[in-house]
Amino acid sequence: MIRAKSLTKVFGKKVAVDHIDISVGEGEIYAFLGPNGAGKTTTLKMLTGVMRPTEGEVMVLGKDIFKHPVEVKRMIGVVPDEPKMYPSLKGWEFLKFIMSVYKSDDEVTRQRMENLVEVFSVDYLDHYIFEMSHGMKQKLMLVSVLMRKPKVVFLDEPSVGLDVIATAVLKEILKKHAEDGGTIFLTTHILDMAQNLASRIGIINKGKIVAEGTVDELKLMAGRKDLEEVFIKLTGNEDRLKEMLEKL
Ligand SMILES: Nc1ncnc2c1ncn2[C@@H]1O[C@H](COP(=O)(O)OP(=O)(O)O)[C@@H](O)[C@H]1O
Ligand SMILES: [Mg+2]
Repeated sequence: MIRAKSLTKVFGKKVAVDHIDISVGEGEIYAFLGPNGAGKTTTLKMLTGVMRPTEGEVMVLGKDIFKHPVEVKRMIGVVPDEPKMYPSLKGWEFLKFIMSVYKSDDEVTRQRMENLVEVFSVDYLDHYIFEMSHGMKQKLMLVSVLMRKPKVVFLDEPSVGLDVIATAVLKEILKKHAEDGGTIFLTTHILDMAQNLASRIGIINKGKIVAEGTVDELKLMAGRKDLEEVFIKLTGNEDRLKEMLEKL
């Protein structure tokens, strides 16, 4: 469903993403985990055709996303870290707009939209987007993406800005989507999200993938029994953290 080869992004002298390979199959939930500035957002932007890589190629649903952008984008859904939406639209106008852009103004989509609005408690559809908080915009964005039930869904730090209930709802929806044969790629720096949801985790540090596998495989690889310790070790922070803690 998603395949990236030797994906690289250089900003000036900074190598933000350094020759990474990613492969995610049907029905998988892949969590891309890494500290701040590791290259998660840059990777997601390249995988979704928003940013051109300096080097490497991206295939989504068997097609090169930069050669067939419209075709591929029609079949995927993207929830960015900063939901950018037209501020002067009302919530319901935005949803209508998305339905018309994707030519999906049909009964099935409308029913899915109503269900999502209900479970995410989006009870502010008559508000203007400029009046909405980050979390409110994010929930509206989630409705607009998930109502289309795209085959592949990309989410950048989806739990930032969401409350406990919305996060729990989102996790269940993503699980169900994967069970139905959908594919999920999400970035997070929150271990719980990765641990409870992902079928496979990739850890990125300073632009490079330092480990990949199931939670159990990562624990085995790092010789640690909890994911937090695995993460600290694999991102090269174990000694530094020990030293710092001794100084306190
Ligand atoms: N548009 C840009 N121009 C220059 N540097 C950038 C740009 N976008 C990201 N970076 C740099 O690339 C690195 C990776 O950033 P990012 O992918 O946003 O990390 P993450 O999402 O993992 O926190 C950081 O060092 C960041 O400062
Ligand atoms: Mg980011």
